[in-house]
Amino acid sequence: MTSTVPVKRITPSSIKARKGGDPVVCLTSYTASMTGLVDPHVDLILVGDSLAMTIYGMASTVGVTVEMMIAHGRAVATAARRACVVVDLPFGSYEESPAQAFRTAARVMAETGCAAIKLEGGAAMAETIQFLTRRGVPVMAHIGLTPQSVNALGGYGVRGRGEEAASMLTDARAVDAAGAFSVVIEKTAEPVARAITAAIASPTIGIGASAACDGQILVIDDIAGLFTEFRPKFVKRYAEAANLIQAAIQGYADDVRARRFPGPEHVFTA
Ligand code: KIV
Repeated sequence: MTSTVPVKRITPSSIKARKGGDPVVCLTSYTASMTGLVDPHVDLILVGDSLAMTIYGMASTVGVTVEMMIAHGRAVATAARRACVVVDLPFGSYEESPAQAFRTAARVMAETGCAAIKLEGGAAMAETIQFLTRRGVPVMAHIGLTPQSVNALGGYGVRGRGEEAASMLTDARAVDAAGAFSVVIEKTAEPVARAITAAIASPTIGIGASAACDGQILVIDDIAGLFTEFRPKFVKRYAEAANLIQAAIQGYADDVRARRFPGPEHVFTA
């Protein structure tokens, strides 16, 4: 007899309840096959708009569309069994007004089956976060380095140094009070990340923001070594997958050229 034991899904509220407890483990994923590998090991999977670079070879996240996020969000949410799946709202799809943000978030949730959305911005987005959370949309906030604003910020530099420390604390308090169930802090000086983590009720999820945060998130391609040329300081590589894949491709190409593949074991008899 086979038994399919139902797996208990991790929800945005159970992530929120992890504040100050065991670290919250988060990774990005963009495809069903990678999600099958990631899901058993993490608490939260983000379908990040970093897919601009990892999947589409774009130079920044600014050109990502809602349709791209829905296609990948659906693949990931369908493949995940346990982790809380969050989908990024792309640049231009939510900043105009709380109503625009709700329309986009509702469409993304309905068409992907994800549990929550993430959006970038601090105090300026607080009204929108409150509007969404009061209407059934769990929101993960994202402060510090916000890559969708790269053109306004003038680059991808470290945030929270000098006078910016105070405004980041204000941003964190605003999104927390607005109801975000967690707050991503990206590429931010350690003392500010520590102060924010102590100051707010929702868990902070760091990416380049030190171990002071309540959890961590990284891009799957970075930890697996799927990129050979780009190594951000805040990433730890746990594998060199690009080398393994290249060796597999080389082996296949050599075998086909030498007529070693397909062999008798790969052939259908009459
Ligand atoms: O798009 C992304 O991957 C992100 C990071 C926080 C991992 O926003």
